[in-house]
Amino acid sequence: MWSVLLTLAATGALGEVVNVPVNNDTKFGFEIDYADNQFLLDGKPFRYVSGSFHYFRTPRQYWRDRMRKMRAAGLNAISTYVEWSLHQPKEDEWHWTGDADLVEFLNIAQEEDLLVLLRPGPYICAERDFGGFPYWLLTRDPNMRLRTNDPRYMQYVEKYLTEVFNKVKPYLRGNGGPIIMVQVENEYGSYACDTDYTSRLRDIMKQNVGNNALLYTTDGSNVNALRCGYIPRVYTTIDFGTNMNATKTFQVMRLYQPRGPLVNSEFYPGWLTHWQEPFQRVNSGAVTRSLDEILSLGASVNIYMFHGGTNFGYTSGANGDENSFSPHITSYDYDAPLTEAGDPTPKYFEIRNVIAKTRGSCDSARGRPRQSVGLRGRQPSRNFKSHQEHVRPKSGGALRGTTEATGREPRKIELWKRTARFEGI
Ligand SMILES: *[C@@H]1O[C@H](CO)[C@@H](O)[C@H](O)[C@H]1NC(C)=O
Ligand SMILES: *[C@@H]1O[C@H](CO)[C@@H](O)[C@H](O)[C@H]1NC(C)=O
Repeated sequence: MWSVLLTLAATGALGEVVNVPVNNDTKFGFEIDYADNQFLLDGKPFRYVSGSFHYFRTPRQYWRDRMRKMRAAGLNAISTYVEWSLHQPKEDEWHWTGDADLVEFLNIAQEEDLLVLLRPGPYICAERDFGGFPYWLLTRDPNMRLRTNDPRYMQYVEKYLTEVFNKVKPYLRGNGGPIIMVQVENEYGSYACDTDYTSRLRDIMKQNVGNNALLYTTDGSNVNALRCGYIPRVYTTIDFGTNMNATKTFQVMRLYQPRGPLVNSEFYPGWLTHWQEPFQRVNSGAVTRSLDEILSLGASVNIYMFHGGTNFGYTSGANGDENSFSPHITSYDYDAPLTEAGDPTPKYFEIRNVIAKTRGSCDSARGRPRQSVGLRGRQPSRNFKSHQEHVRPKSGGALRGTTEATGREPRKIELWKRTARFEGI
């Protein structure tokens, strides 16, 4: 039996050290139970209700605030891209501090009881300049073919991914961290069909991730996108918004992923705005109806965006082709449940109510209680890093470290009882 020292700040007992025994049977991991079409988190049936939140669109001083509000809405995971251009602004210059401190972002997620879906690209789109690629890629070889298996491009990709995984490896679920899924490329089937490229990316990522997290793809919900986005031995997921019938749309995913849990990796509660357009809005009634349908199918979902934030500097991207050019505005508010400034909207509360309704309801399809989407019983990891100065509860916050050291029982720690804290907003 080994143990972990957790320094927990509790009301009136700041700096209390809780020695949490961890049974050797505690096994961290994230995998798929194909027989029952579900995920297994640490061996137990699980599904996520996640929200996208990109660290590079919000100053780090606000990261914890946004995550707490996401957790309070009932989410149990967040999803973020990793932006190559931010971390490697020049070929010989790496940047991992300040607003680029990905590791700190992961630490905070873990402390705030949120799992992480990581999308390291290398291409991310994300409505960012050059889809997150560093500009200097264009200054190397004029014949370099981006997003293909061209070795002139792949040499840089390998260096970038190596740096990323050196940072995030300890945070993979199998190593006790919050990262349960790692996405390969980004909606690649909408761009090209170089399967040598996607297979090579899979192999590089697999070398780094092993079985410590699940590799997945995300593609548009149509057969053409999936045909080229599908990567053998990588879990296929799709994305779609409120204009689609979830039940019918998941049948498209089933063409390429006949078994395993249903996943919508980008469910759009709002939309992006280009210059010259009116501010784009998505009706919250449509959002809650659609989310309700997705959840009632037992699917896992990531809401894109839950908090959009801001495209600082010249980081906004553009859509277009030979005939059109539609640049994105600086704001990435996205009509998301949390505004650009981080404030909850009426949509936030409506979404929270849909998620709350799903909890503990009965899954008639399988004839047994559906797994709670909540995280009760999920075990914090060995990598838990304490930030006393941050976890000090405000009035009404209760911090509990419940230790169960009874033989084979794994430890149970409930860090926050915080859902009520946002009731008054
Ligand atoms: C738990 O694992 C550690 C390290 O492998 C070992 O030293 C210890 O004896 C084990 N304890 C039990 C109770 O099996
Ligand atoms: C979606 O399609 C299914 C199957 O055709 C149907 O039963 C369901 O009512 C539709 N849902 C909505 C919200 O229209």
